[in-house]
Amino acid sequence: MTETSKAPVITIDGPSGSGKGTIAKLLARRLGWSILDSGALYRLTALSAVKQDVDLNDPEAVARVAQNLDVEFRSGQAEQPVSVFLMGEDVTEEIRTESCGDKASQIAPHTVVREALLQRQRDFRKSPGLVADGRDMGTVVFPDAPCKIYMTASAEVRAQRRYEQLKQQGQSVKIAHLLSEIKARDDRDMNRENAPLRPADDAVTLDTSGLPIEEVLQQVLQIWSTKQA
Ligand code: DC
Repeated sequence: MTETSKAPVITIDGPSGSGKGTIAKLLARRLGWSILDSGALYRLTALSAVKQDVDLNDPEAVARVAQNLDVEFRSGQAEQPVSVFLMGEDVTEEIRTESCGDKASQIAPHTVVREALLQRQRDFRKSPGLVADGRDMGTVVFPDAPCKIYMTASAEVRAQRRYEQLKQQGQSVKIAHLLSEIKARDDRDMNRENAPLRPADDAVTLDTSGLPIEEVLQQVLQIWSTKQA
């Protein structure tokens, strides 16, 4: 085992809108660790497949896209989000659309696609540590992580958060539509055969409904400190 593969990992899994992405970023910044946004890799694979006219229902073809993904994550200044480049093109905003998220969820059940992305995700692990955000970080990608969090919130709270987020980005959507999309995506992510969304046996579950971000962050830091003791 290399030094790098022994670097600690805090995994944060959960459904979209649970707050895991925001917490993962704050946590990584607070600890001075790297971050893996694994959902972005599924979104990038879906986007790249669409751009290359690859059929999303053809697992082998999509897996080839995943294998050859030419992607670069560029960190911005302190408060700036990470920029994402696909074949040199800035797709930071494009991968965040509902449509891209939906396509990512469509390709995610394919075993060959998940396998194609596995090592790429593990390569993010380096000293002094990694915060890994996704659906199967604690169950499949980093099963030996010393600290695993499963973050959740009611579908209604998650739809409201997503609505606010999209409104801020100038996108107009109906909340009822978001709610039904969130429920459909949950259903697909939780009931797929391969690496379904579920808490790892040794994960701590945090329900963030009604909790301010700073409070959630404090709880996660508290959990991490108990794991180190
Ligand atoms: O977290 P997100 O919304 O960016 O993820 C988009 C989709 O990618 C999600 O619906 C399921 C899939 N995904 C996955 O299957 N495994 C992961 N570790 C991360 C995301």
